[in-house]
Amino acid sequence: MLGCQYFDDLATGDSRSPIKSPPKFKPGDFVMNSERLHWPWAEYFCLAEEELALIDPEIQDLPHGLKLPLAYLGLSGLTSYLGVKSRGKVTSGDVVVVSGAAGSCGTLAGQFALEWGAKKVIGICGSDEKCRALVDRFRFTTAVNYKSPAFESKLAEACADGVDVYFDNVGGEISRIVIVDHMKPAGRVVLCGQIADYNKDVPYPPPIPKDMQDAIVAKSIDRERFLVLSYQDQFPEASGDMKKMILEGKIRVEVTEAEGIEKAGWALVNMMNGGNIGKQVVKVCDSSRRVKQD
Ligand SMILES: NC(=O)c1ccc[n+]([C@@H]2O[C@H](COP(=O)([O-])OP(=O)(O)OC[C@H]3O[C@@H](n4cnc5c(N)ncnc54)[C@H](OP(=O)(O)O)[C@@H]3O)[C@@H](O)[C@H]2O)c1
Repeated sequence: MLGCQYFDDLATGDSRSPIKSPPKFKPGDFVMNSERLHWPWAEYFCLAEEELALIDPEIQDLPHGLKLPLAYLGLSGLTSYLGVKSRGKVTSGDVVVVSGAAGSCGTLAGQFALEWGAKKVIGICGSDEKCRALVDRFRFTTAVNYKSPAFESKLAEACADGVDVYFDNVGGEISRIVIVDHMKPAGRVVLCGQIADYNKDVPYPPPIPKDMQDAIVAKSIDRERFLVLSYQDQFPEASGDMKKMILEGKIRVEVTEAEGIEKAGWALVNMMNGGNIGKQVVKVCDSSRRVKQD
């Protein structure tokens, strides 16, 4: 949902409000949920002032400024940042593979890895157009289309030096190949998501094949479940650093936008089908629209 405007709920002098403390916001301010989650799908709704936070005016003029709390400074960015830093522990000279690479978390994870010194960042995604975008616009070293018949040989070529860190958004056969065939001993897997199995009736994380389990044990690979909400104590520091990086122009953020609340279901299916580059967002109302204040 796009950054929403705050509207004062009571008119000045309203008899229901004989004592009113000074408002935290002024009408027209762009606000977001201070808890970051659980907004309803609606064009207008009421929330208590304390449940809202001002969208940082410093970021509003950047490209996609009002969408950055969703596409970067919110869940996707924190997941990518903390996944790469705290679980992947990416350091200088690492070779990093990212699956689901052209999506919201993937595009950011690859860029964070590069910022923290990765020697090579290899993206895996579902089209040649996305591969080109990853290299040309997001600075990935190379990218491989998993739908191409040459996928395995191209991946082997890209991973010839072995893989230190695998940021896994998708699971399934792609992840089996990366882990069994290409990961180095003591490699780290960031088990971010397993989208290939989301429509299957299996527990999370989904069961993995025996050769993959054997490879994890034989190579002492770290592959524990990663849940960003377990890292809330690191959110303030991560958010501050992420803001600095975007203001310095170090991180590129893209969105794929669907217009109108009636497109919400379509947008979810589009995202699951790979129709997005960067974050799939739904614009539910135009930010230039105002309601009458009287
Ligand atoms: N661990 C956490 O705390 C946490 C937090 C947030 C999100 N996540 C997870 O992170 C992952 C990425 O989320 P996101 O919001 O960044 O989504 P996204 O990457 O923007 O979109 C999903 C992409 O996955 C690819 N995909 C879909 N089905 C696939 C399949 N069967 N095999 C391979 N690729 C497939 C599609 O691109 P292609 O064209 O490349 O197929 C699609 O565009 C998800 O699994 C999500 O659940 C985890």
